[in-house]
Amino acid sequence: MSSQRGKFITFEGLDGCGKSTQLELLADELRKQGHAVVVTREPGGTDTGEKIRRLLLDTRTSGLAPMAELGLMFASRAQHIHEVILPGLNAGRIVLCDRFTDSSEAYQGGGRKLGSKVVLELHRVLCGDMKPDLTILMDSDVAASVERARRRNRGRDSSENDEGRFEKENRAFFTRVRNTYLEIANREPERVMVVDARGTPAKTHAKILQVVSKKLTIETSSRKANNGR
Ligand code: TYD
Repeated sequence: MSSQRGKFITFEGLDGCGKSTQLELLADELRKQGHAVVVTREPGGTDTGEKIRRLLLDTRTSGLAPMAELGLMFASRAQHIHEVILPGLNAGRIVLCDRFTDSSEAYQGGGRKLGSKVVLELHRVLCGDMKPDLTILMDSDVAASVERARRRNRGRDSSENDEGRFEKENRAFFTRVRNTYLEIANREPERVMVVDARGTPAKTHAKILQVVSKKLTIETSSRKANNGR
């Protein structure tokens, strides 16, 4: 096991903002540069988490209380940290995660109106207040993103892979989600980088690469400086 802790990078944004594509593009690039990369997602990322994901995203799950929804997101997350994220970081890898606690704050805290406080409190208790080294917040238009996500979901085999429960929410819900994301970015400007995701995938990729390279270079050089003392 490497003694150097790896890097934990999370991706956030509205459904259909192009997050998954960007995550894969970044993973390919980092691997080309010789980094060991783990790509994972929430809810999910472990066997147990994927079961919880199916329950959470299936449109046939009806009448789920917002607090129960929040609890399930955190159950998946606690397992994920234990089984995938911490072991990856302890082995010195770069862990790229599609969504993390900021999603709970934006969707359950903002979208479902539970507020940030309960989310941050659960994060402290259940996740040891674990902070990503860097969070890429892909900012996009509410209407365009949600329409894209709905189209994608309609194209799926509905009985096998129904992941449309959140995409049924209205525009007001997603506007609250987006506003909460922007509040988080304002509150934690060191960690959360807002990247405009309205351009072409190639343009967005270039912007993300710039942000990530800067972060990795700064950390690498400060480590060297400390070792030199
Ligand atoms: P994801 O698979 O990233 O959806 P998409 O590819 O459409 O962006 O995430 C699944 C859904 O779960 C998404 O609608 C956001 C929601 N979600 C929450 O509401 N809270 C959470 O804590 C997480 C991790 C996801």
